[in-house]
Amino acid sequence: GLTRHYEFNIKMQNVTRLCHTKSMVTVNGKFPGPRVVAREGDRLVIKVTNQISNNITIHWHGIRQLRSGWADGPAYITQCPIQTGQSYVYNFTVVGQRGTLWWHAHLSWLRSTVYGPLIILPKHNEPYPFEKPYKEVPVIFGEWFNADPEAIIRQALKTGGGPNVSDAYTINGLPGPLYNCSAEDTFKLKVKPGKTYLLRIINAALNDELFFSIANHTLTVVEADAIYVKPFGTDTILITPGQTTNVLLKTKPNFPGAAFFMTARPYVTGQGTFDNSSVAGILEYEFPSLHLKKLPLFKPTLPPLNDTSFATNFTKKLRSLASPQFPANVPKKVDKHFFFTIGLGTNPCDKKNQTCQGPNGTKFAASVNNISFTLPTTALLQAHFFGKSNGVYSPDFPINPFHWFNYTGNPPNNTMVSNGTTKVMVLPFNTSVELVLQDTSILGAESHPLHLHGFNFFIVGQGFGNYDPQKDPKNFNLVDPIERNTVSVPSGGWVAIRFLADNPGVWFMHCHLEVHTSWGLKMAWLVLDGKLPNQKLLPPPADLPKC
Ligand code: C2O
Repeated sequence: GLTRHYEFNIKMQNVTRLCHTKSMVTVNGKFPGPRVVAREGDRLVIKVTNQISNNITIHWHGIRQLRSGWADGPAYITQCPIQTGQSYVYNFTVVGQRGTLWWHAHLSWLRSTVYGPLIILPKHNEPYPFEKPYKEVPVIFGEWFNADPEAIIRQALKTGGGPNVSDAYTINGLPGPLYNCSAEDTFKLKVKPGKTYLLRIINAALNDELFFSIANHTLTVVEADAIYVKPFGTDTILITPGQTTNVLLKTKPNFPGAAFFMTARPYVTGQGTFDNSSVAGILEYEFPSLHLKKLPLFKPTLPPLNDTSFATNFTKKLRSLASPQFPANVPKKVDKHFFFTIGLGTNPCDKKNQTCQGPNGTKFAASVNNISFTLPTTALLQAHFFGKSNGVYSPDFPINPFHWFNYTGNPPNNTMVSNGTTKVMVLPFNTSVELVLQDTSILGAESHPLHLHGFNFFIVGQGFGNYDPQKDPKNFNLVDPIERNTVSVPSGGWVAIRFLADNPGVWFMHCHLEVHTSWGLKMAWLVLDGKLPNQKLLPPPADLPKC
């Protein structure tokens, strides 16, 4: 493969949306940030220079980082942040992956403005397993806040209450004409009739799962999280924060002068405050004859906000291609079974320093197996590699929750012991893992897009209510389950995933709803080195930032 060099200068830039100008953190002054393109097998060398007054890190979401965990990016997990005036070179090879991924800042809420597409093309002479598109177009959803997102989360953590919601959703950084003072800032996709376009769709929104549709057009889903899937047609897709979905859009053979809305808006299962507005872009057919003055504009219909049956049916259609060329290598035998509860709850509030605006004078918290994970003040991977774990983390993350109860019935509030600690789950090299993620409804059932760094996993089962270890495994799909890096654990339900721990390092796992991560819905796996030289974590680069 080739080596491809990029420079990311993290700097402040004035950006105007919704008639509101703010100075915000960007990469090279761009919003959304620059497109990174590589081919499978290439090496990416990306020099990130911090020219702002905050710390920052960049994460390459979905890149496996085989043995190169130092380049993964989550702050205090694999690296200390890049400090003001400092640089760090992310250096990694893209092994065995092709498709749409993305990159984003991975410290606090900086990813709200610092994100962009990461496109991995197949190797030369390796065609897509679907029709060759005429054009490829990234379509990135985001959220626009008139205020500074850093101030919003700081305020929320201080009060213990929920954070303010965003002011708009965006497509490629643009809110579109359904918002006030925004008609000029509309994403327009100009198309020719009778062609096939590949839309590389990314959900970079902070806190919402989204429905997306283009009026009068069918989308054919061909890939999810950079894994080819069995193609299927749909009017609407559902995509959670962290996920990517590639769809083919066939334009109509003869549609001169017509325009169609494409819109996205949230799928919401919790009860909290949320933004229920819609972002719109326009699909515009080019036409040679110019006598049409006004374009008819068609609007798509999206499912209702809480349409769980749509969500369930859509998810069920996603299957790995599982072809000879792209097999689904589902671990068939399992070495270790884990059962993790995930969900929201409350913690006692410190009335001296906080205003305690959570439910009943508490503060909001979120947890995995009752643990609200606390980030250490130095990076876990460094502590592990240099044998200095004392006082940084403990290797005793629980394999089960502290309390067994009816998770989705009506659990009492005190079933959450959400004490902030830094515990990690240790796995010997090549452990085959089955992990059941169970949503709890202590503070209202809600779906949680769980993202695992360093691995893809297979979603072998999912259901509603409480997971039943006797019955449910009988229905697991070990033939063509979808393989991905982010799964939406359904509201009031569970998913079972499998992965092979063949990548030594420390790997973050967290809810990709940023507010839940801030509240503690996160943990880390520590995968030990194998015996062979090529089963060991590489040594850290010389410019690795210090805390
Ligand atoms: Cu896309 Cu840990 O994140």
